[in-house]
Amino acid sequence: MKKLYLTSPDRECSIPDFINIADMPVCISTNEYINQNLDSLSGDIPLIVSADIQTGGKGRDGRKWVPVGAGGMYISYLLNVNNNENLGLLSLAAGTAVAEAVTGISGLRVQLKWPNDIELSGLKAGGVLIENKLFSNSMLSVIGIGLNVNVDRQQFCKSISNTATSLSINSGKKISIDELMLRISEYLLYFIGIMENGLYENILKKYLFYLKHKQGDEISFHHSGEIVNGEFKKINDMGALVLKLKDGEEKAFFSGEIHTIV
Ligand code: BTN
Repeated sequence: MKKLYLTSPDRECSIPDFINIADMPVCISTNEYINQNLDSLSGDIPLIVSADIQTGGKGRDGRKWVPVGAGGMYISYLLNVNNNENLGLLSLAAGTAVAEAVTGISGLRVQLKWPNDIELSGLKAGGVLIENKLFSNSMLSVIGIGLNVNVDRQQFCKSISNTATSLSINSGKKISIDELMLRISEYLLYFIGIMENGLYENILKKYLFYLKHKQGDEISFHHSGEIVNGEFKKINDMGALVLKLKDGEEKAFFSGEIHTIV
């Protein structure tokens, strides 16, 4: 198995300075590949499975990750997150890792839509799907990241053509997927180390820098098949979205999808 060597300067945790990498030309879903081969792959942790093309990707909340063909980044990490009590924050850490890497490499202004949609100028360029599983007494996390890197507008099918963008569209240049993968891996493992040390507020602070929602924003939120309207209050220290509802109650949501901001 190939190894990707990471160079995070202030690494002070048990996280190794390399990650195993399995790359394949085509895959149905890199998350599903890991899910179905957990027995054999668990010995290779920390691991990234990457594909040049993904044909049946999964999105959050049972949605599909619509394939865009070549130029997309499709990766899934298999990591041991046993020492992390706060798995809600892992989702924010993963989005922040992508935001930091994209900003550093492309100079683009990245925003995160809660929990971890990667947006450029209000359009979606990427997303994160995390699946946690208990495997022989360890908590393993499959962290799938899809990012439209060198993707032209014509590659988007009709269902996403008005809502999607790519790094190359917004920056006007081609960007190295290998370099992005390296930087995202460095940030992600670094953040996981920070969480392992219990320094949750450091992650939250970085996350809030990229978050597009500001206190007082009116938010329309889809949760368990219902639409909830409310005012954005904060992201709490468990990574949940806290809204002030019409009746004045403040409620924390751990999952759901923000659809429109009115
Ligand atoms: C979302 O925004 O709904 C999350 C999308 C996550 C897509 C990525 S692509 C790589 C990995 N494999 C999958 O099947 N899904 C994730």
